[in-house]
Amino acid sequence: MMRAGTITASVAGVLASMAATHAPAAARWGGLIDAILVAAAVYFLIDFVLLTRIPRDLPSDHPVEGARGILARIAGSAGLVDLAAMLALPLPLLAGLPPETAHLFGMVWLLKLVRYASGLALLGRVIRNGAEALLSVLLCFVIILVAAATAAFLAEGAAQPEQFGSIPLAIWWAIVTLTTTGYGDAVPVTLPGRALAGVVMICGIGVFALWAGIIASGFTDELRRRDFLRNWELVAKVPFFHDLGAEVIAEVARLLRRRDVSKGQAIVRRGQPGEAMFFIVVGTVEVQIEPRPLSLGEGHFFGEMALITDAPRNATVVAATPCLLLELDVADFRRLSGERPELMTAIAAEAKRRLGASKA
Ligand code: CMP
Repeated sequence: MMRAGTITASVAGVLASMAATHAPAAARWGGLIDAILVAAAVYFLIDFVLLTRIPRDLPSDHPVEGARGILARIAGSAGLVDLAAMLALPLPLLAGLPPETAHLFGMVWLLKLVRYASGLALLGRVIRNGAEALLSVLLCFVIILVAAATAAFLAEGAAQPEQFGSIPLAIWWAIVTLTTTGYGDAVPVTLPGRALAGVVMICGIGVFALWAGIIASGFTDELRRRDFLRNWELVAKVPFFHDLGAEVIAEVARLLRRRDVSKGQAIVRRGQPGEAMFFIVVGTVEVQIEPRPLSLGEGHFFGEMALITDAPRNATVVAATPCLLLELDVADFRRLSGERPELMTAIAAEAKRRLGASKA
């Protein structure tokens, strides 16, 4: 509720601040724009007051603790943004700024959206982890930039002194070319200058490809690490893995994929080839065998027989409740069989017992 209110107030407030700078819009919808700005300012005032209220569970004889708590909350990064959002409009107006200028401070409300972009924390970690590599590429960028500006000054300086008459002047051309923006306001006219421009453009693509590559691989690493930690917790919950020791659990956690299944969904179907086996972390599945279906609950596994025997699935398995499963695909199953025979022996023994039970 609060989240929807904050997003609406921020977006509406920022749009109104933008519209206020556009004279025709301000002339036509001035009243509406002002109303939105005032409503957003009131909303952020209430939001801030809610942040500073004393928690209900605090003992009444602890006023100092309460005040300290409030200060700590305001001094936190989210609290400072709330404070800035609350003051964004009233403060410039009280300071005597004309309304047209005061409206611009509404842009601060954009910051309120940051806390809802959960991916930003991930991006922050990726940039921190890849800082060294990213800084090296940035250094390459600066070296190429200065070298390109120097070469352009030498090649074009005499022909176009206004644009290339000094290295600082030529840097503008180098930035526009290296970033492949190409405004076209400074264009080399000599043969060496054009050859240089071609080289600089290609270097620019290379530098940005490197940046993108470092960030993309950082994202993949970070997501893999997050999945690994989540899987570790889940694997540790499955009793079957309890006796295996941390090393095997870590190995298995790397290979398993989490899968959420809704009630009634068929997870494997009789007669189909086996592509994966599953461990049940939460929920119950029903193995549809004759004469009556069999329930498997938390800690059990299924779908192993087709992988061991290379035969099609011998039963359909349906989720009897919403389930959280860990999926081990066939290629990883085979790899694990080689590397961790103890794990596979346990799975094979259970499969044999089940086959015996079905025949009996
Ligand atoms: P699979 O044949 O790969 O796919 C269907 C799964 O149902 C099977 O592996 C077993 O995991 C499970 N299953 C089949 N028969 C039994 C049984 N009698 N007892 C427990 N599980 C079974």
